[in-house]
Amino acid sequence: MKSLSLSWVALALTLGACLFESVGAAPSSSSLSTAAASSPAVTYNVAAKPSRQSKFALAAFIETNINSGTDGGLYAETIRNRAFQDNVSNAANTNNALGKGSLLHWTGTSKGTELTLSLDNSLSAALPQSAIVTGQKTDSCGIANSGFEGFSVTKQPYKLAFYARSPTGKPTTVPVEVGLYSSDSSKTFAKQTLPLKLSGEWQKFETTLTPSQAASNNNNVFAIKTQGACNDGFQVNLVSLTPPTWQGTVARPDLAQALADIKPKYVRLPGGNDLEGNNIPSWFNWTNAVGDLKNRPGRTPTWTSDWNTEGLGLMELMDLTEKWGAQAILGIYAGYSLDGKAVPQNQLGPYIQSALNQLHFLLDTTGRWADLRKSYGRSAPYKFQHVEIGNEDWLGAAVQTYGPYRWAAFRDAIAKEFPQLTLIASTLLNGVEGAKAVDDHLYATPSQLFAFAEGMDATSRAIPIWELEYAVINSGLTNDSDIYSGPGRLKHPTLIGALAEATFLAGAERNGDIFYSAAYAPLFQNEGTNLTQWTPDLLSFNAGQMVKSTSYYIQYAWGNYPIEQIHDTSLSTPTNSSHIYHSFGSDGQGHLVAKLINTNAAARDVKVQLGSGAKLSANGAKSWQMKGNDPQAANTLSNPQAVVPQSSSSGLPQGAQLTSDGSLTVTLPAYSATVLNLALA
Ligand code: AHR
Repeated sequence: MKSLSLSWVALALTLGACLFESVGAAPSSSSLSTAAASSPAVTYNVAAKPSRQSKFALAAFIETNINSGTDGGLYAETIRNRAFQDNVSNAANTNNALGKGSLLHWTGTSKGTELTLSLDNSLSAALPQSAIVTGQKTDSCGIANSGFEGFSVTKQPYKLAFYARSPTGKPTTVPVEVGLYSSDSSKTFAKQTLPLKLSGEWQKFETTLTPSQAASNNNNVFAIKTQGACNDGFQVNLVSLTPPTWQGTVARPDLAQALADIKPKYVRLPGGNDLEGNNIPSWFNWTNAVGDLKNRPGRTPTWTSDWNTEGLGLMELMDLTEKWGAQAILGIYAGYSLDGKAVPQNQLGPYIQSALNQLHFLLDTTGRWADLRKSYGRSAPYKFQHVEIGNEDWLGAAVQTYGPYRWAAFRDAIAKEFPQLTLIASTLLNGVEGAKAVDDHLYATPSQLFAFAEGMDATSRAIPIWELEYAVINSGLTNDSDIYSGPGRLKHPTLIGALAEATFLAGAERNGDIFYSAAYAPLFQNEGTNLTQWTPDLLSFNAGQMVKSTSYYIQYAWGNYPIEQIHDTSLSTPTNSSHIYHSFGSDGQGHLVAKLINTNAAARDVKVQLGSGAKLSANGAKSWQMKGNDPQAANTLSNPQAVVPQSSSSGLPQGAQLTSDGSLTVTLPAYSATVLNLALA
């Protein structure tokens, strides 16, 4: 599950131990607030006209399952173990396609309540387990769910849906109260009574719960309990409670809006490791991730101990992508899973056929698969251009089979039926031919990323690079031989880490003729106990709150200030001695976009002058800046605003001015990223 890009490995070997250090050759912190020197640390001579188109565009990676970031995160469902499928030991690595089943995260609402996990009278073949709620005949009985570490209760309508039947099969009416309560039962925030008319058949019940008051914390439960006598109780399954979602999707609004705000042009989906599954039977089989929820069996999880519901399934992910104004990069399972086993060459056929069916389902206008999609409510085909075959096939045993047969088998079959698609290889190692692009991953320390960024101008132009996973994951302060497991591993993105990511993005943009896209990974972290497996992450949250990290803000800046064309630039001082990183481009609307990252512990003056006598104008200038005195500062749920950027849509930021010759001088604060959008006069 760990990844290092090949190009990165080569670079790391070359640069060796000199990469592991405190942040740069920067001055000591005693010079933190020192005024900038009067002569510019760097003068940038920027060509007045662009030399090349930039293909670079920001991507987001919706990595399923990890950190309870989809179930328990982006998927707005608040009920945990809603169809009694949990109880998965990740280590045990089950082949079970339906979930062993358990009553985890459910409790009885009264002392006498008995909850029984039942396989009798299944709701559907996909969701075979259900809960039978019984108890003392004359007392109330019921079932309560503790959510993904509680429920955030606010004054908004929550949609409730569940299936129920009579456990004896005999027709009966069971009046129940459904509601949201504090865990100690002292407060009722919302309740409804429903006269459940039950029979031996499963029936769906739906209502809305609108709390009359908000809860002060997430320490709350949802419950269904009989009003009065339990009698024969009730049998229940697929219990769902969702607050209002984002723009008609199934997504949690704060998380979905945060992603919309960074304006990604591409969305890679689904995982990551979760695409591959822990073993071959737990691969991402799209047919189990579409259609009515009661017919979705879900899947063994790759990271969490909760069952993968696939409620945020294939169409839901595509719909979200579309609403974000982005195009999908569809990850296709390529016959290799995380236990190191590959599907043998002569057994690959069904997996290839499944991939083709998936593409027909998403892209066709007519025919069997288009009809199926239409029956699920989506008439128009989805629009996308890129398909990635596999995930990280440079790792472990994957490399022994990817180039030798898996890649070519998928490539040929897809190219034959979908010649319009661009196929991205997950590695170029060991015989991979005909790839139009490669997805290279990069997890690093700040210093490693600075060094990488400095080398990016020399990147081979042989094949377009998509860095669809990258992040600073380790502070680099403890010289860890393994940046994944050493003590320097970050819990949250830091200021200096985010600046390092900015230097990488600036390098990608400067070389946007060959770097086509980049996606920070992972995006989501549910901060609940045992809900996170991988840090740091772009957005941290719990049942009610969300925090934007320093890395998030860098994504925001790059997504909101994109460039279309690259302006070549010469520098008075090389980057590896100034420790100031840059990209210059034009936005297609006659503006120069300048991105400047000062990784030093003191402010620095820089000068930007255009060639051929061209001038910059401050009219309509826009700017964005993130800075801080503490390079290790991080935004967290308990300190969400440690580092917050500022933007202005009217004029230059403090410390920036135009001189009479149309050049720009800027004082870049210590530890800062600055983006300027200026008219080319
Ligand atoms: O982003 C976390 C993991 O890193 C991804 O699942 C995998 O592709 C990579 O190893």
